[in-house]
Amino acid sequence: MTPLLEIKNLQVRFKIYEGELKVLNGVDMVIGEGEKVGLVGETGCGKTTTVKSVLRVLPTPPARISGGEILYRGKDILKMKPAQIRSLRKGEMSAIFQDPLAALNPVFTVGHQLYDVIKYSSASRGRKRLSKKEIRARSIAVLKETGMPDSERILSNYPIQLSGGMRQRVCISEALSASARLLMADEPTTNLDVTIQAQILRQLSELVAKKKSSILLISHSLGVVRNLTERVYIMYAGNMVEVARTKDLFADPLHPYTKALLKSVPKLTGEGISRGIRGRIPNYLNPPAGCRFHPRCDHMMPICEKERPAFFTGGDSDNHKVACFLCRR
Ligand SMILES: Nc1ncnc2c1ncn2[C@@H]1O[C@H](COP(=O)(O)OP(=O)(O)O)[C@@H](O)[C@H]1O
Ligand SMILES: [Mg+2]
Repeated sequence: MTPLLEIKNLQVRFKIYEGELKVLNGVDMVIGEGEKVGLVGETGCGKTTTVKSVLRVLPTPPARISGGEILYRGKDILKMKPAQIRSLRKGEMSAIFQDPLAALNPVFTVGHQLYDVIKYSSASRGRKRLSKKEIRARSIAVLKETGMPDSERILSNYPIQLSGGMRQRVCISEALSASARLLMADEPTTNLDVTIQAQILRQLSELVAKKKSSILLISHSLGVVRNLTERVYIMYAGNMVEVARTKDLFADPLHPYTKALLKSVPKLTGEGISRGIRGRIPNYLNPPAGCRFHPRCDHMMPICEKERPAFFTGGDSDNHKVACFLCRR
């Protein structure tokens, strides 16, 4: 596997009135060329912060990247100049966020925003430039693909005039039109009807397969991740705690948190997994030392309070890694 994106020991903090939230606590992640990777974890564990760090769209302040590297094809995104980052965001990486209003530009119509994406991506693939009429037709088609009602009229609307679900469809349409090598989909179907969710996710997955792009799919739904990804990371309170091929992870979860997560499937949103497992995600102002999961863990050992566990190889495959002292041999 050739790595496309490598996140190494990423640390992100947020300054708030009471002090500093130590959110990302050394995140490690690799996404290969053409690979479909899932990312799962309770609300608040730092998934969106990770994606925003990669895109360099974290608001700084309050955010501060206090350590680590984010290598895109070997080059550190954290050291790039603004112009290099902008060009990455245009041609190489695209993202769909949970909160589409933040992702769309409020002062341009839907048609205008799609126009730019389609124009740029058609030109960047070395094809002949599309005419205005062709771009318009393609915009309507791609909106229709996402199940957008009345897509012709929507083109002249501003984001604020649309419902949450409609805005999310616009973001998905942009992502479908962009020719990115890496698509990061952060709970991309949260605002959509259940019936359309599966359809959109299948489309996203077919699209990345066709373009041989890589996808990072963040989802509350373990079912979705299981169906659409090859490898999956489990995140807890600012750290990756387990990574494995998707089928190995579901067949043989090793981290106590992963086990709890798989047992408490319907409770992943909102309330967290508090019904499946005691306690809550820690306060990031003063997070537990050592393994951040230890206060909630039934297998806690003295070392867990002192040292942060590294990744140990677990299970039957070298690709199965677990940040838990139970797996230390
Ligand atoms: N701009 C911000 N200011 C202060 N805290 C933030 C900000 N953005 C995120 N956080 C905090 O970082 C933690 C992780 O958030 P996030 O990355 O959105 O989690 P997830 O996407 O996994 O639900 C949360 O505790 C959240 O409150
Ligand atoms: Mg999020």
